[in-house]
Amino acid sequence: MPERRPYVAANWKMHKTAAEAARFVEALLPRVEGAGAEIVICPSFLALREVVEGCRGSAVRVAAQNMHEAEAGAFTGEVSAPMLVEAGADAVVLGHSERRQLFNESDEALARKLPAALAAGLEPILCVGESEEERDAGRTETVLERQLDADLAAIDSADLARVVVAYEPIWAIGTGRTATPEQAQETIAFVREVLRKQSTEAADSVRILYGGSVKPGNAAELLSMPDIDGALVGGASLDPDDFAAIVEAA
Ligand code: PGA
Repeated sequence: MPERRPYVAANWKMHKTAAEAARFVEALLPRVEGAGAEIVICPSFLALREVVEGCRGSAVRVAAQNMHEAEAGAFTGEVSAPMLVEAGADAVVLGHSERRQLFNESDEALARKLPAALAAGLEPILCVGESEEERDAGRTETVLERQLDADLAAIDSADLARVVVAYEPIWAIGTGRTATPEQAQETIAFVREVLRKQSTEAADSVRILYGGSVKPGNAAELLSMPDIDGALVGGASLDPDDFAAIVEAA
């Protein structure tokens, strides 16, 4: 079984101006020096350059929070993979539930975004997750399998290992209601089984993160589960001390 390096990502959503982002990076770097986990910061588009500059020479990498699938075109308000690469991004979050729910991001668009990101050299962080209603109706596995099959449809098995998957139950995002470590483990193990249909090798090496109200106080327990390879952190990633504590727990 390949060693999967822990992966902790800070999803800032629509928080932090470029100046605030630069101050965060300055505060964070000394706190995470020598960390064993891979660390990724996902700022707004406008703070990408500051975070890239601030992280230069460190092991911390930078991701955008969204991307259009086309390289260029008449898509007012959108940003393409080559633009993100030029700004210094290493990765890109795709399919976050807020984008799916609030901005009508579809599985069809994601199926095009994933190969576009990989072709540009960006590491996709693909988010999947069920709503509370879907979990209560016992449909969690059906929903996840549908999302994964649709979103990864155009990715061949050789490229699958370059994708990072984040399982984020929608009912746990920003609610303070974390999935129990057992729930998260069970569901993430299921996600890995779905990936196994495409490639056993890739399924064993893909990092699968848990996201949804991860905090310094619950990170160690969640991350100790065998299939949980890291965390996608929203609220608690806005504070350098809290985020550094989660990195340390990983
Ligand atoms: P949260 O957000 O940690 O604030 O729940 C997680 C996410 O949406 O990625």
